[in-house]
Amino acid sequence: MVVSRLFGLFSTDTAIDLGTSSTRLCVRGRGIVSEEPTYLAVKKGTSEVFDHGRAIGQAARDMQGRAPQSIEVIKPIRNGAIFDFEMTRILLRHFLRSASGGRRWSSPRLLISLPTDVSDVSKNALQQVADRAGAGKLYLIDQPRAAGLGSWQPIHTARGHMIVDIGAGTTDISVLALGDVIASRSIPTAGDAMDESIVSYIRKKYNIWISHRTAEEIKTSLGSAHPCAPPLPPCAFSGLDLMANVPREISITQEEVRLAIDPQLTQIVDAIADMIPTLEAELIRDLKKTGITLCGGIANLPGLPERLYGWTNTKVFVPIDPRLSVARGLAAALDHFDELRPLLECPEDRI
Ligand SMILES: Nc1ncnc2c1ncn2[C@@H]1O[C@H](COP(=O)(O)OP(=O)(O)OP(=O)(O)O)[C@@H](O)[C@H]1O
Ligand SMILES: [Mg+2]
Repeated sequence: MVVSRLFGLFSTDTAIDLGTSSTRLCVRGRGIVSEEPTYLAVKKGTSEVFDHGRAIGQAARDMQGRAPQSIEVIKPIRNGAIFDFEMTRILLRHFLRSASGGRRWSSPRLLISLPTDVSDVSKNALQQVADRAGAGKLYLIDQPRAAGLGSWQPIHTARGHMIVDIGAGTTDISVLALGDVIASRSIPTAGDAMDESIVSYIRKKYNIWISHRTAEEIKTSLGSAHPCAPPLPPCAFSGLDLMANVPREISITQEEVRLAIDPQLTQIVDAIADMIPTLEAELIRDLKKTGITLCGGIANLPGLPERLYGWTNTKVFVPIDPRLSVARGLAAALDHFDELRPLLECPEDRI
């Protein structure tokens, strides 16, 4: 008892937003302390992290498309869900160690955000992964509540709020009231699917192959959801000419990028619009006042709030740094742990 209390004194309560593209680490009292791509590079066929355990995060992402055959670059989270549990354990251990400054004997309380549709079986599996990664007691919060808190929305009130989180792997659409999730839907269409669509648009139109990384650069520098006035000038990007088998540069316009990602944007905007008529009349009335809070990296796409407003006739609010909404909510939950404890789930208490 005394020993565990003593360890508690030195432990660092930690929260992690395990995103498909990026993982954000929060420490109690310090807010968001780091953000790293959710990538690991391992020796093929093993779970041994390359470069003496250092090829995690940006170092691993930089190896993608450049690594020798003996190295495998892994993304352990796909479409917002854990795809590779062993790699997720290594990632968690890495983040817990960096949060505690390398003190291996501290076992901090760990808070993780999860999509709303995660089964109890997956939560129990995550509990085992966290135990093996060296975490203390594990708490979970669903992403819409974390995103609502981190977008400064009063989600505890009786009034309904719609939170839409468009990340890399998934679009999560939720309605919250009285701190609870009243309705939610998750679709596997978000930033990664837009990147794939840009790759295939350029291959079909120009017979040029570009990497997913280039496609993401094209999306973030030229992407838009609505015609912009004045349009940005075309940008040059390089790829592989599939006929001549040589590298070639092409100039891409903003309109081409909008056309390429239009199917994904239509699917996302339709899914949001479709949820509104399924809600109780009181909640629909609330949404007219509270509007839609748009977060996740894709909320940065120019013209998306206007397009969403045009389709739903509901005002749209984008918080600053919408990519960090979930992580800000996690940091708030760590700082006000006792007050926000009713929003958190503890798988260990359920067993
Ligand atoms: N300025 C921008 N314009 C367009 N897209 C952007 C911009 N900034 C980031 N993105 C895109 O946002 C996506 C990443 O968003 P985010 O960090 O919220 O995802 P994630 O949390 O890792 O994934 P998920 O929540 O789906 O598991 C990527 O597809 C990225 O290219
Ligand atoms: Mg996310």
